[in-house]
Amino acid sequence: MNILAIESSCDETAAAVVRDGREVLSNIVNTQIAEHIKYGGVVPEIASRRHVTNISYVAEAALSEASLTMADVDAVAVTYAPGLIGALLVGVNFAKGLAYAHKKPLVPVHHIRSHVAANYIAHRELKPPFIALIASGSHSHIVLVSDYTRYKILGRTRDDAAGEAFDKAARVLGLPYPGGVHIDRLSREGDAKAIKFPRVHFKDAPYDFSFSGVKTAVINYAHTLSQRGESIDRADAAASFSEAVTGILSENVIKAALDFKVGTVVMAGGVCANSMLREKLEAAAGRHGLSLYMPPVALCTDNAAMVGSQAFYEYENGRRADLTLNGRSAESIE
Ligand code: KG4
Ligand code: ZN
Repeated sequence: MNILAIESSCDETAAAVVRDGREVLSNIVNTQIAEHIKYGGVVPEIASRRHVTNISYVAEAALSEASLTMADVDAVAVTYAPGLIGALLVGVNFAKGLAYAHKKPLVPVHHIRSHVAANYIAHRELKPPFIALIASGSHSHIVLVSDYTRYKILGRTRDDAAGEAFDKAARVLGLPYPGGVHIDRLSREGDAKAIKFPRVHFKDAPYDFSFSGVKTAVINYAHTLSQRGESIDRADAAASFSEAVTGILSENVIKAALDFKVGTVVMAGGVCANSMLREKLEAAAGRHGLSLYMPPVALCTDNAAMVGSQAFYEYENGRRADLTLNGRSAESIE
């Protein structure tokens, strides 16, 4: 089954063709980062406008790279939630038009579920059940995935998402948006033990996160030094910050896997591109005899191949949308 998938939930306009949920025939991503960089973050109105300009071109490119036409496509899938509402609406309306014009079924896909599905592409043998750590610019969840379309949230952030914390810390350290990748690079030159940034544990909710404290601590650290006229060691600050955030992410997900006696851990979302997090999880999974799956870095951030993969399982489970489908800025993964 060939699915043409569309993704426009944030600042990437993307389209892909995926066969039977696992085989990527094409994967086109048009990123707008260069345009948002001067504002230090995504400007929703600009994102929507760029999606409008790019979406037909990106979808056509996905078909032509797969050497297919719409006649060879069995269903159209689209990210409908969560994300920037104006951005989502562009993809949703485009997909609705395409599905209607070509008389194809329309499959709505939850963006965060699709981040998890990036692993189905990279690891053909991977099947639920598993515990997933989902860490993106807007979400930080630990989820029990008992089947392809059955998710139970075990833990979540109580304030900032991990990626948001990375991006804010990067801004304080004078690094460009989106900051996660720049902090990651700088961290490799720094001492992760140089500064002790706070780590929050919740006794009553051992898989929950809080990242606002560590974010504020970086801000205070930078301000205090600048008031004293001292320079910041940006590499040490980046490494120490990364140590605190990745430490808590990895500890909590490993704890969940052990507590729920699930032998497989899966990483998903943009922050899973982080090298320190990948190293920590590899080491911890090895120590505890857990199987660990993570997507290649290119599939960690937003793309439509992951949407096409999840769409296959949603379709098999009977999920369809009609022309009343709307975008939703917030929607639980459950
Ligand atoms: O999943 P994603 O592409 O978009 C959302 O759905 O939010 O995640 C983007 C987030 C950004 O906050 C970005 O800074 C972060 O992922 N990120 C990283 C790295 N690469 C991307 N954070 C830490 N280390 C990285 N290497
Ligand atoms: Zn995403």
